[in-house]
Amino acid sequence: MTKPLIIVTGSSSGIGRAITLRLLQSNYPVIGIARYRHHAPLEHHNFISVPMDLADVDTLPEKLNELVDCYPDVQGIVFAAGRGQFGSLEEFSFSQIKSLTDLNFISQAYLAKAYLPLFKKRGNGHLIFIGSEAALKGSRKGAIYCASKFALRGLAQALRDECSKSNVRVTLVNPGMVNTAFYDELDFAPGKEPENYLVPEDVALTIDYILSTRAVLSVDEINLSPLKNVVQSRKKTKQ
Ligand SMILES: NC(=O)c1ccc[n+]([C@@H]2O[C@H](COP(=O)([O-])OP(=O)(O)OC[C@H]3O[C@@H](n4cnc5c(N)ncnc54)[C@H](OP(=O)(O)O)[C@@H]3O)[C@@H](O)[C@H]2O)c1
Repeated sequence: MTKPLIIVTGSSSGIGRAITLRLLQSNYPVIGIARYRHHAPLEHHNFISVPMDLADVDTLPEKLNELVDCYPDVQGIVFAAGRGQFGSLEEFSFSQIKSLTDLNFISQAYLAKAYLPLFKKRGNGHLIFIGSEAALKGSRKGAIYCASKFALRGLAQALRDECSKSNVRVTLVNPGMVNTAFYDELDFAPGKEPENYLVPEDVALTIDYILSTRAVLSVDEINLSPLKNVVQSRKKTKQ
């Protein structure tokens, strides 16, 4: 049986890349969205690359309308693009507050909004948001990051309530620390022991499972954590 067409944002690195590889392995056709700053798009007969800067929210509505026109058959979206930036609120410039929120929250709401009318009309579709443990508890130096993830959780819960009558499913996956390039420019990282971090494939496997569930089952929210939470601080590398 042909598997449904899935969009994965953040397909060039970390969690999104692992999800893309896993879904391709499971025979889903995948549209990958990222800027492809560090990796070239994957080469696979079932993979379509759509380079896009999701943080450029002013031009996003037009680009997303084109995307929907080009690929109306999409049946699922995995929202894995995002980035981390941490510090006390007063250390953020006004534009940094906006750009982090634009990528981690506004762009996700825009992409969901672009496809929802089609999903609702057709009576199927699945939105899977990658939240974070930061969507569950605010913590020091995480004011804007946590706020963007709390907003995403609110969006997911509201959409779940609103969309179920149209048979559209909404899931939020909240990983703890995952060993990815997310930490490359941060002054902390997960501990070094294997029980201190998840690997991107853990999240990918979870997404594959969520997509494989019966259409009448709603997987609302899943939290994934490393067995032992250990954070190591480290010096930022100067660019
Ligand atoms: N790693 C963790 O510990 C962890 C834990 C919980 C939740 N998360 C969440 O998981 C998501 C993915 O993080 P990750 O760990 O996989 O980090 P990552 O390895 O740095 O990957 C981030 C992805 O987002 C894409 N991206 C960043 N800015 C973009 C933009 N302006 N437009 C389009 N795509 C953009 C990147 O692609 P390009 O740079 O090529 O555009 C890349 O594919 C984020 O939402 C993060 O908050 C991560």
